[in-house]
Amino acid sequence: MIGWDFSALEGRLHADEPWWNFEEDCRSALSSAHVVADLGTGGGERLRALLKEVDWSGKQVTATEGWDPNIPVAREALAAWDVEVHRYESERDQRMPFADNSLDLIMSRHESIDVAEASRTLSPGGRLLTQQVDGHDAEEIHEWFGEPYEYPHVSSQQYVEAFEAAGLRVDVVDDWRGTMEFKDVTALVTYLALVPWDAPGFSVDEQKEKLAVLDANRPIQVTQRRFRIYGTKI
Ligand SMILES: C[S@@+](CC[C@H](N)C(=O)[O-])C[C@H]1O[C@@H](n2cnc3c(N)ncnc32)[C@H](O)[C@@H]1O
Repeated sequence: MIGWDFSALEGRLHADEPWWNFEEDCRSALSSAHVVADLGTGGGERLRALLKEVDWSGKQVTATEGWDPNIPVAREALAAWDVEVHRYESERDQRMPFADNSLDLIMSRHESIDVAEASRTLSPGGRLLTQQVDGHDAEEIHEWFGEPYEYPHVSSQQYVEAFEAAGLRVDVVDDWRGTMEFKDVTALVTYLALVPWDAPGFSVDEQKEKLAVLDANRPIQVTQRRFRIYGTKI
């Protein structure tokens, strides 16, 4: 994976989208925000697409990225917007690289959040918008290959509790289930290589028989689980 790009699976993976539009919600929040951070920006692709669509003059936009190979990718992608990309990862670093009460919008798509830290850095009235992958996403992959869930605790309920404990009012919370369909096992194996944390112990050699059964019954369907939660610092 370079950046956050699934084009290697173009035409071989079809993934439903949630009924809400997270990008539209971020665009709308961004239009009235001044000091903004995108957490876990990947290669900056998502933030760049958003910035292309809003008037960003007068805004100060920053990002964090925790996976070292993607830091230079994100910096280059976002250079035209003067976006500073900080090295930060909530599971590794204690403190977000922002001062108390300094941000009025935090966005995070599919990246773990230290909600207490996010709340510390938001000014009163500031907003946190996140879409997350539920910890029990892609349950079939875990069943087929005997892989334990890496983040079983991640759920909308856990986030609601974390928001409330951190002094964030919950404005919106929704769960969604949909389908992801792989054309064949080559597409499935490519996906597992791009998202290695979904099945860290997976190897083609050890799973040859299971893969043959799946390929004989293609297309291969997997259940996606997502949730969104938006809050405001009180
Ligand atoms: C799921 S990605 C989401 C990126 C971005 N927020 C988006 O929605 O397009 C979350 C994080 O995983 C990182 N990442 C990508 N490949 C990785 C890998 N092989 N190991 C660890 N982290 C990885 C990305 O750089 C990013 O920070």
